[in-house]
Amino acid sequence: MYRLLAHLHWTPRLRSIERTLHELQGSELSSHRFVDVGCGPAWLATLAQSLCCEYLGVDPALRKAREVPGGRIEPLDANSVLNELQPTDIVVLNGVAHHLDDVTFQRLLKKTRDCTALVLCDHRAEPSNHHINKLLQRYDRGNFVRPYSSFSQLSGYKTTHLDPFEIKWLGIPVWSYFTGLYHPTRSTP
Ligand SMILES: C[S@@+](CC[C@H](N)C(=O)[O-])C[C@H]1O[C@@H](n2cnc3c(N)ncnc32)[C@H](O)[C@@H]1O
Repeated sequence: MYRLLAHLHWTPRLRSIERTLHELQGSELSSHRFVDVGCGPAWLATLAQSLCCEYLGVDPALRKAREVPGGRIEPLDANSVLNELQPTDIVVLNGVAHHLDDVTFQRLLKKTRDCTALVLCDHRAEPSNHHINKLLQRYDRGNFVRPYSSFSQLSGYKTTHLDPFEIKWLGIPVWSYFTGLYHPTRSTP
């Protein structure tokens, strides 16, 4: 089912993540590792490879570790990946923050302050969203869809790019999303 729906919303999300990573290009991408937390089918591996980044995808739903183009994927969750993170990592959560409870999400945010940058692509929950979008957010498998306002500033980070976008179906904005780029304040460029 996820793969079926993903055909509708994958390309706009990918484009937004590309626009966001463009902000890092040159200065920070090459020689960095792209850590895709909750990587699902690891579709971002191709993007990481095109940016000359080593790729590590982790997801608790994976059965076993294996190689993918430009890197590997491993069956780890947002808690167990913390021990793997390195200062040169660009940590990406694409459609995953709303699957993480507050304790897990805050623990991850704290740890990624030691990394190079954090990219979040997730639901943009706002009072003005279309009612179909609100229904989809309410019944999403992730139980922690957070208000968009909570992503404008994250404690310990400087927000360097915010890209709100709509994913439309039959002209209706059924998914409101955003991608944010956050730099730990100790390493603000
Ligand atoms: C909406 S899917 C997004 C998958 C992928 N990032 C993509 O965009 O195609 C959410 C993913 O989060 C993963 N997930 C759920 N709980 C998680 C956790 N505690 N730690 C890491 N990943 C988790 C799920 O297994 C699932 O693959």
